[in-house]
Amino acid sequence: MEMKDIIFPIREELEGTKRVLKETLASEVALVSEMAQYIVALKGKFLRPILVLLSTKVCGNVPDEAMRAAAGLELIHVATLIHDDVVDESEMRRGELSVHSIWSSRASILMGDYLLSHAFSLFVGIRSQLILDILARATVRLSSGEIHQIQQSEGLETAEEIYFKVIADKTASLFAAGCEMGPILAEGDTHLRRTMAEFGENLGLAFQITDDILDFEGTEKETGKPSGSDLRGKHLTLPLIRALETASQSEARKIKALIEKEIDTRGWEHVRSFIRTHGGLEYAASKAKEYAQRAAALVKGLDDSPAKSALMNLVSLSVHRRR
Ligand code: IPE
Ligand code: IPE
Ligand code: MG
Ligand code: MG
Repeated sequence: MEMKDIIFPIREELEGTKRVLKETLASEVALVSEMAQYIVALKGKFLRPILVLLSTKVCGNVPDEAMRAAAGLELIHVATLIHDDVVDESEMRRGELSVHSIWSSRASILMGDYLLSHAFSLFVGIRSQLILDILARATVRLSSGEIHQIQQSEGLETAEEIYFKVIADKTASLFAAGCEMGPILAEGDTHLRRTMAEFGENLGLAFQITDDILDFEGTEKETGKPSGSDLRGKHLTLPLIRALETASQSEARKIKALIEKEIDTRGWEHVRSFIRTHGGLEYAASKAKEYAQRAAALVKGLDDSPAKSALMNLVSLSVHRRR
């Protein structure tokens, strides 16, 4: 299963969404326009717009507003990535130099704000209080999750419970919001709102756990971003948290002492083999699978359609991906 099969039922709407993005970001300020052109040319997976469009289609017709919502959600996501790369001092994104590596951190932070502002104007243009409510709650969760993650790193916090709270807020929030908008945009059965929101939340958790596995096991060539950046930023993620729980106390103390220092290549390999020895990756993969199964079970009950099959396939791709 490939992405091109998944997007087949919404391929036209997806093109429309890309047009909205280009039109929205046009600016008479040269620096804005330069950065915007760079950003729209990057090859992201476009997952959040795909979710908005499929969640709409699975409930009924896809109106033009859905393309604006899809573009708006991608803008929020991209703005967050630009900010996240400044915060994490990450040099690569989507296989290219990250925005701050080219234009400085100050320009990038403000460009992120510019994208967020445009996202909000797109959403306001949809004229649905319900959608604005969903979006406002999601963006509060997202930014709170990113800050919570800094707190977690600074305290070298290893509780699984905190990890799950952070990833739910920073990642699953936007997935859930995108999916919850579908039934509203389709003007179909709004009783599907809860189901679709929960579907997105579970899918988002599975997706982020997989991202955290890939940070240890993927390559930069595959993911388009530097491997090991979570560890360098002292973001303790599930594979490592699990290994620390499983290991003896003295061994766990040694690993934590290693992480507190600047990690070099030897330290990195040491932590990776520690995780492997203690089954951290298998455990994280089993959790990702668990959430993916919950997500799949939620859409399973919907009426059969190409959009429904695409959503089911998207769930499986989200945990089996290398990118
Ligand atoms: C990256 O998201 C941030 C996470 C939530 C892990 P994606 O993996 O969807 O990034 P792009 O949009 O494809 O670049
Ligand atoms: C997702 O988490 C962060 C956002 C919600 C922006 P990551 O920190 O894992 O994202 P990557 O790995 O940098 O894409
Ligand atoms: Mg990051
Ligand atoms: Mg990551």
